[in-house]
Amino acid sequence: MLVQVDNPLIEVHDLTVSYDKKPVLWNIDFSLAAGQIIGIIGPNGAGKSTLLKSIMSLIEPQSGYVKIYGKSIDDVRGKISYVPQRESVDWDFPASVLDVVLMGRYQKRGLFGRYNKEDKRIAQESLEKVGMQGFVKRQISQLSGGQQQRVFLARALAQQTELYLMDEPFAGVDASTEESILNLMKEMTQAGKTILVVHHDLQTAFKYFDWMVLLNTRLIASCPAQDALNESLIQETYGGKLPLLSALGNLIKNKDMPIREKK
Ligand SMILES: Nc1ncnc2c1ncn2[C@@H]1O[C@H](COP(=O)(O)OP(=O)(O)OP(=O)(O)O)[C@@H](O)[C@H]1O
Ligand SMILES: [Mg+2]
Repeated sequence: MLVQVDNPLIEVHDLTVSYDKKPVLWNIDFSLAAGQIIGIIGPNGAGKSTLLKSIMSLIEPQSGYVKIYGKSIDDVRGKISYVPQRESVDWDFPASVLDVVLMGRYQKRGLFGRYNKEDKRIAQESLEKVGMQGFVKRQISQLSGGQQQRVFLARALAQQTELYLMDEPFAGVDASTEESILNLMKEMTQAGKTILVVHHDLQTAFKYFDWMVLLNTRLIASCPAQDALNESLIQETYGGKLPLLSALGNLIKNKDMPIREKK
C-alpha cells in the first residue's frame, strides 16, 4: 500500500542500494509529509538502517535518489539531525556526556568555533529533556546502554533541527523513559518538526506513529499507521515469523477502536 503525499518533506525515488552487489534496498519509492512521527518497521536485515543512511547520503545508492524539501541532502544537511543505531557507535571514544551533547552545536558554531553560554544552556536543557542532567561530567564509556542512547538523543535535540532521523532510539531504554521520550516527540511534531524513527516493536508501533513505512528489502507499505494495521501487510513484512501476528490479532480485530490510547 503506497500513499504518496502532496508537498512532501522527504521524497525517495526508485532507490536501490547494494552492498557487494547484493541489493538490500530494492526500488524503494515513497514520500512523507512534515509534522508527524513516522515509524520505519521491518525485521532484522530489512534495510531500515540502510534506508536512514541513504536519506542522510552516507551511502551511495546504486540507482535512484532522495530529496528533502525538494533539494539534495547536501543543501539541507543543517536542517537534519541523525541518531545512529547504538551498536554502530564507538562508545570507548574519550568524551564526557556534556562533550557529546555539545557536538550537536558544531553545525551552528563551525568546527573551530567556541561554544558560548547559550550552547551550554541548550546542551543542559537537552540533557534534562531525556533525564540525564545528573551525568554531565561522566565519560560516555561509563554509562549503561540505555543512558548512552539518551545522551545521543540529547545531542540530536541540541541540534535544534527541523527533521530528526533516529535509528532505534528506544532500544534498551526502560518503559518510563520510553514514554517520556515519546511525549517529547509528540511535542516536537506539534511544533512542526518531523521525526523518522526506526522501531522494532510492532505492538507499540501502532500506538506511537502517525505514519508507517513497512520495509523488507522492498517497500511493503507507506501509509497512515491505521492503514498499516493489516494482517496481510504485516505478514508480507515479516514473512513466516508469525508469533508476532497472534499478539496483533486483537489489535487488528479492534481496528475501529481509537489506536492512540490515552495514557
Ligand atoms: N557495511 C555493510 N556491508 C555489507 N553488508 C551490509 C553492510 N551493512 C549492512 N549490510 C547488510 O545489509 C542488510 C540490511 O542491513 P541494515 O543494517 O540496513 O538492516 P536493518 O533493517 O537496520 O536491521 P536491524 O534490525 O538488525 O538493525 C543486511 O543483510 C546486512 O547484513
Ligand atoms: Mg538497523
